Amino acid sequence: MTQARKYSIGVFDSGFGGLAILKDIHARMPDYSYVYLGDTARTPYGSRSSEVVYQFTLQAIEKLFSQGCGLIIIACNTASAEALRKIQQEYLPTHYPDRRVLGVIIPAAEEAIHLTRNGRIGVLATEGTVRSETFSKELKKLNPKVQVFQQAAPLLVPFVEEGAHRSEAAQLVVASYLRPLLKHRIDTLILGCTHYGHLESLIKKEIGPGVRVLSEGKVVAKKLENYLARHPEIEKTLKCTGGLTFYTTDLTEKFKTVGSALFGRPLTPKSITLG
Ligand code: DGL
Repeated sequence: MTQARKYSIGVFDSGFGGLAILKDIHARMPDYSYVYLGDTARTPYGSRSSEVVYQFTLQAIEKLFSQGCGLIIIACNTASAEALRKIQQEYLPTHYPDRRVLGVIIPAAEEAIHLTRNGRIGVLATEGTVRSETFSKELKKLNPKVQVFQQAAPLLVPFVEEGAHRSEAAQLVVASYLRPLLKHRIDTLILGCTHYGHLESLIKKEIGPGVRVLSEGKVVAKKLENYLARHPEIEKTLKCTGGLTFYTTDLTEKFKTVGSALFGRPLTPKSITLG
């Protein structure tokens, strides 16, 4: 009798940021086999058009499938906002009906609805994510009464990528992005970008104790575990051999240094080409 093929879990991001999400997923479920792909050669996605984000994301998904992934988490909010639905509805059914692609926006939205008391939720994200209105749509689907206030924060990703996320300059920029959200009297703030988890303590300091700050890593890990418990037909196709493989589309020293810092332990990335 032939053994059924077993798959890894893929985690995709436009660059380094998704390593923080993988870190939390791996900490919660270390027995699965993981493949990370960061499209560092083409990052950032946040200021690109929807069409380009879709094309890049699809290329990454195809590559991860070809590397033996059966379930992929799109850790990038911009790609989740602008490409996930089309991939799930149009691409998977015709190309890979037995594999799955999930994003980070619905898990974050569900948690925010659970946390808010006054129904006023803030979202800090990239320009692309804000423009797509995906957070607003998903939050309102869960509770039509909530009010959602979005703020694009394009300057924050470079601070994290340059390792300057604890600097005074970062603090000033964070404060200026939070001011309009505070005026709207939000009580919950979604950090809707892979990188912003690294600014969490700075953001908490600036925003004060009255606002709950929701960082995605732990939420996504918890929801993924829950998803696998509810979908044994997917869970049983996953390899339980452990293992972490890292791919980047631009193999630089920086991927090793910044990536290792974000992931919390040394990593040895390999080069991969998309498109
Ligand atoms: N990974 C992206 C996100 O979560 C941020 C970086 C980028 O703009 O590519 O939206």
